[in-house]
Amino acid sequence: MSFPARRPRRLRRTPALRRLVAESRLSLDDLVAPLFVREGIDEPRPVPSLPGVVQHTRESLRKEAARLVGLGLPGVMLFGVPEVKDAEGSGAWDPDGIVQVALRDLRDEVGEALVVVADLCLDEYTDHGHCGVVAADGSVDNDATLERYARVAQAQAEAGADVVAPSGMMDGQVGAVRRALEEAGHPQVAILAYAAKYASALYGPFRDAVGVSIAGGGDRRGYQQDARNRREALVEVALDVEEGADVVMVKPALGCLDVIAAVRSSVEIPVAAYHVSGEYAMVKAAGERGWIDAPAVAMEQLVAVKRAGADVIVTYFAAEVAESL
Ligand code: PBG
Repeated sequence: MSFPARRPRRLRRTPALRRLVAESRLSLDDLVAPLFVREGIDEPRPVPSLPGVVQHTRESLRKEAARLVGLGLPGVMLFGVPEVKDAEGSGAWDPDGIVQVALRDLRDEVGEALVVVADLCLDEYTDHGHCGVVAADGSVDNDATLERYARVAQAQAEAGADVVAPSGMMDGQVGAVRRALEEAGHPQVAILAYAAKYASALYGPFRDAVGVSIAGGGDRRGYQQDARNRREALVEVALDVEEGADVVMVKPALGCLDVIAAVRSSVEIPVAAYHVSGEYAMVKAAGERGWIDAPAVAMEQLVAVKRAGADVIVTYFAAEVAESL
């Protein structure tokens, strides 16, 4: 008698068998929805390159947060779009700046039912679009920027953020933010560090959503990571852990599955991954053309990010997935 020595297909025979032996599970509990709030608008504005995503008014943001609580999502990540930008990005730490007022709105609306994460950066607030203060020679001044990040952290904590998420890839940013939070009497506020964030062409739709264009056709290669490097991500992560990060994040997600896996095995704290705007937009665009089954591809991609080792996934698909699970 001749037969295959092993038949892996036995465990794939029925949906129940497949469910029983699944190694990774995508759960609602792992998802964080990014949300945008724009100052000075009366109606939510759709973001054309992010179908289904809008720039919220303060009022529609409240409603959306309440809806997400109803769907059972555990967290949101908030980005602000100010009416006025300046060279320093001072709107980012203004107590009456858009993110601060929106954080207070959210706290009031959902209490502790949602983890409210505030993205901590300057690019939405600077007129040149860089994530930090620009020096006379055109480079981004690392240490001058840290001083601003400290102010932003304090303002966001004051306004009620549970978690602040420094995303500018300045050296020492986690330490500077941790110190600022302690000094201002907010030791309970956690830091989700964009630890390994790559200079990626996949952030384009996000920049539409926040109205950011980098002056002079510039880019972020002087501070965000080079796609050719994996070990460097582990250096960044180790520094952030040492400086007091509570969660470390890898971004973008799909091009960095190897990095997510390496980070997962190098730290004991939670690892997050950001399935970014371009990753979402590609799925939506191909789906609209009927070229792929977009909801199925979305699930497949998010499961791959889980399988690589992410504990938390920030994704524009969060609400859709929550509705389908
Ligand atoms: C910086 C920031 C960016 C994103 C999150 N935080 C943009 C950038 O680095 O240029 C991108 C997120 C996405 O593409 O979905 N504040």
